[in-house]
Amino acid sequence: MDFDTLIERRGTNSTKWDMMEKLYGVSPKDGLAMWTADSDYATAPCVIDAVHQAADHGVFGYVWEYPKYFEAIQWWMKTRHSWEIDQDWILTSQGLGNAIALCLDVWSEPGDGAVIFSPVYHEFALKIKKTGRQVVECPLVREGDTYVLDLDDAQSRLTGSEKLLIWCSPQNPSGRIWTPEELRAVADFAERNDLVLVCDEIHHDLIFPGHDFVPMDIAAPDIRSRAVFLTAASKTFNVAGQRTGNMIIPDPERRASMQNRLNTLDYSASSLGLRIIEAAYSPEGAEWVDAQITHLNRNRQLFDKAVNAIPGLWSMPLQSTYLAWVDFSGTGMTPDEVATRIRDDAKIAVSAGPSFGVGGELFQRFNLATQGARVEDACARLTRAFSDLQ
Ligand SMILES: Cc1ncc(COP(=O)(O)O)c(C=O)c1O
Repeated sequence: MDFDTLIERRGTNSTKWDMMEKLYGVSPKDGLAMWTADSDYATAPCVIDAVHQAADHGVFGYVWEYPKYFEAIQWWMKTRHSWEIDQDWILTSQGLGNAIALCLDVWSEPGDGAVIFSPVYHEFALKIKKTGRQVVECPLVREGDTYVLDLDDAQSRLTGSEKLLIWCSPQNPSGRIWTPEELRAVADFAERNDLVLVCDEIHHDLIFPGHDFVPMDIAAPDIRSRAVFLTAASKTFNVAGQRTGNMIIPDPERRASMQNRLNTLDYSASSLGLRIIEAAYSPEGAEWVDAQITHLNRNRQLFDKAVNAIPGLWSMPLQSTYLAWVDFSGTGMTPDEVATRIRDDAKIAVSAGPSFGVGGELFQRFNLATQGARVEDACARLTRAFSDLQ
């Protein structure tokens, strides 16, 4: 359970490190990659052992029914989230970006609207646009040190052409964990407007002490017929490159529509991806996740302390996720000026706040799923880059 030994990722075809120069203009030679949401430390030993065993067996042929994979997901949801699901409800996608695109494809037509609450994971809006649907963006409201919903405002933005609501819980960015009452209100909103409720719960495992995550299906079990729950081991176990996600669809007819589309596309899962999920969702995997949360909690405390000491900067207190959401509005700089300093002076590649939609304009998102030394380095770089504000 070592999260602090530096692991060289440059030159491994890592998107985060090997694409940072091309995408962000920050050289990996002396820059820090803190953008896309994967982690810089190795996954759980039980996952690595499973991959070794598969390699020792040496045969990577087709796989058919895979009961242990379904059992492992069911076990994880029950033991980690008190959520009872049937194994039959689970379909597999190539990650959750793929699952979101599939949901848009199956339950809406080009020109239809899809509702999102922003700022939110930028791929929601991109997927909606790329599939020829309309983004119906409903801003979250800053209240105290977090975001809240304004569902009356959201209601006023709807035109009647909306077919889906793509909901992020916990929220990326900001790490906001929604209360059961808020989840209930969102479910009622979906019901009132006859929307398919696509609940992206990919970040549900990395929850900081003092906070509790409640799955939408527990807060609002009565709306199952319109719900699709998306979960994955990818963020929790740093296995995003395996492109394996879960689409949990309780309603048989709704599930059949998605299964038909998967059949048409000739989609079937990667055997190694399934084996990895089976190994991850285990008691050993759970122990590793608990240790990871302790590590991330230290990282976020370190980061928040340093960033909040820089005049004009403010890091939103995270309830979950490793994605720090930093507000630069107190600097008085434009979004471009902030981005330039972070790129050219601090030499850090970050996820640009404006890409998360309305409300993200003066923010930047920093990925803290890295070694403590790298977080310290990032803090020192930011302090230097914005030192004239001290
Ligand atoms: C909320 C959310 N959904 C989906 C994804 C993408 O998941 P995948 O890599 O499985 O496509 C991410 C990745 O950061 C995410 O934060």
